[in-house]
Amino acid sequence: MAKFGRKAAFAALTKHKKRLEDQPMRVQFALDPNRFKRYSAQAGDILLDYSKNRIDEDAMAALFDLARAADVEGHRTAMCEGEHINVTEDRAVMHMALRYQGDHPIPVDGEDVMPGVRDVLAHMKQFTDAVRGGDIRGHTGEQFTDIVNIGIGGSDLGPAMVTLALSPYGRAELRAHYVSNVDGAHIHDTLKGLDPARTMFVIASKTFSTDETMTNAASARAWLSGSLGDAAVNDHFAAVSTNLEATGKFGIRSDRTFGFWDWVGGRYSVWSAIGLPIALAVGFENFEKLLRGADAMDRHFLSEPLEKNLPVIMAVLGVWYRNVWGFSTHAVLPYDQRLSRFAAYLQQQDMESNGKSVTLSGKAVNWSTGPIVWGEPGTNGQHAFYQLIHQGTDVIPLDFLIAARPQESLPPHHDKLVANVLAQSEALMLGKTIEEVTEELRAQGLSKAEIKAMAPHKVFPGNRPSNTLFYQKLTPETLGSLIALYEHKVFVQGVIWNVNSFDQWGVELGKQLAKALLPKVEGKVSGEGHDSSTQGLLGYYLANKDQ
Ligand code: F6P
Repeated sequence: MAKFGRKAAFAALTKHKKRLEDQPMRVQFALDPNRFKRYSAQAGDILLDYSKNRIDEDAMAALFDLARAADVEGHRTAMCEGEHINVTEDRAVMHMALRYQGDHPIPVDGEDVMPGVRDVLAHMKQFTDAVRGGDIRGHTGEQFTDIVNIGIGGSDLGPAMVTLALSPYGRAELRAHYVSNVDGAHIHDTLKGLDPARTMFVIASKTFSTDETMTNAASARAWLSGSLGDAAVNDHFAAVSTNLEATGKFGIRSDRTFGFWDWVGGRYSVWSAIGLPIALAVGFENFEKLLRGADAMDRHFLSEPLEKNLPVIMAVLGVWYRNVWGFSTHAVLPYDQRLSRFAAYLQQQDMESNGKSVTLSGKAVNWSTGPIVWGEPGTNGQHAFYQLIHQGTDVIPLDFLIAARPQESLPPHHDKLVANVLAQSEALMLGKTIEEVTEELRAQGLSKAEIKAMAPHKVFPGNRPSNTLFYQKLTPETLGSLIALYEHKVFVQGVIWNVNSFDQWGVELGKQLAKALLPKVEGKVSGEGHDSSTQGLLGYYLANKDQ
């Protein structure tokens, strides 16, 4: 156990902040030629450069003290040992078992879960090989060309993000599509142009009761039956769920139903059978590589000292900015077009996990918890929102992600991409002083008056923090490691903030109210009993909806 508590650790950090306020990073870099070496670490082929942060050795030491004071190591062991760390749902948190590559038993509630995990993986392999090889075909004997995954949240974001990221490993004859939104436009536009005889649906829902998914599943069924008859459902639907009773009721045959377990949270389920559309799209062997990459990051997280542990380093830096410097958002900016859904995926992983305001024991927290996570790929973002990142009034800590090797051989592109990402982190760190701007404008021949008017607009405050994650190539293994890296980062932050990172009660109220409002929106019952805003909006809708 740690020698002093969270409170003392935060008090120490506040002092370090005061000192570092007078030492911008550009000065620290000038004074210390070893800064990159000092503040970079590696896990497998992933290099984390965290030298462009507002830190020094004392501040980092205090951050690791905080992690120890919060007993990150103890909580990590508790998670691995299957303790019910998801206290409000009384569940273990065992997504690491889904990608475990060793041969030790992993007991949860007294039972080794690994035989069950391996059985489902074997079933996934047999099914995906058969679909891809043409042994499993549609009702009319046609080979499948399109897989439509219907799910939402964790039953959509992970597989959709990974399928796009690994698209070079897919093949043109079998495309995966993702339908999540209850907005009919989503399923309409996805099915438009697809051939029912060649389309397979995967209904992915941990609970098999989520309204959006069930509504889309019913529409998919109607679309298929309308063309091939209801008997075709048997051949064109598969399901992934923990609720096998409900999948049976829907009419999905048991040999096309893939189970998982309540110890897998929705946002941590991409490693389970929820990954089925990934395996269908890129092949089971690549799905296995994704699992292997995640397991490699697990080994790193479980064995490396905190000071060299990538998820821990990223977590404590996030806490540093959130709680000590008061920065409220965190941007993830992949210079990797195929990671364009990565930030959306991380939004659920991070914000659903740590967007909490009570402690594990239900007391109100009096510190800030999870940041707002957002991002888009570079270089596109540079021509959109980077203006604010460079010169706006908010400081936004960032993660840049970039591969050393692209998937394509298009020579000028990747060097330019790399030049841009390096330039951005350098510019954010260095900034540009009024003296530098003045000198630049003078060299351009501007008059004194012109310089006075222009210079303030061209000043960059600098000292803006960023991490850079450099990896060799966006392979399935590396992607698995990257996802697991962020999962563990979020876990460590949840431990430090003393919240339950594994429940999501915050999504319930909206669901309940939508259920209650539906008959009123449908015009089946009168819409009374709401606040005047809801009442007014409802009135507008009823007056204007299609009759
Ligand atoms: O919106 C909350 C949530 O429960 C997420 O946590 C989950 O990933 C998503 O809904 C979908 O749930 P299910 O897989 O049960 O359909």
